[in-house]
Amino acid sequence: MKAQRIARAVGLAGLLFVAVTAVKAQDTSAVQRGNTKFQRTCAPCHGPGPGNDGEAMLPGTAALQLKYKGTVPPLLEARTGLTADVLKGFVRRGSWSMPPFRKTELSDAEINDIAAYLATLPQAAAK
Ligand code: HEC
Repeated sequence: MKAQRIARAVGLAGLLFVAVTAVKAQDTSAVQRGNTKFQRTCAPCHGPGPGNDGEAMLPGTAALQLKYKGTVPPLLEARTGLTADVLKGFVRRGSWSMPPFRKTELSDAEINDIAAYLATLPQAAAK
């Protein structure tokens, strides 16, 4: 009787462990996919500028510097609050010189991954 109860408890703990690691693995891969996607698709315009004076040389970064005049960081990777919904609003419609992305170019799932990546950055976590 006692052995059976112990076996059941061990089995349950094992199941729980598997479930928790599965969820963690999924989160990590979403963040990794989002990071890769962001670097390939967004960073060519939204990366940090190459200038030594810190002046952005990239169209997205430069345009956001002009738009917000420093009240909001020009780098998307330094921003907070860029949730999947916010990203979709800009990414699907485009914004001035930013082209819109169709679902065949960038799926909703991929935008969710990018949002998951942006949410893990230290700046986002600190605020
Ligand atoms: C061809 C260059 C280019 C690419 C590629 C690009 N962007 Fe942009 N993006 C811009 C520009 C330029 C702006 C500023 C537009 C403006 O002045 O309103 C912008 C603005 C934005 C904004 C609005 C921020 C704000 O507060 O106004 C978001 C969000 C954004 N981009 C996300 C993305 C994401 C996510 C990707 C990758 C899927 C991406 N962009 C790819 C050029 C680009």
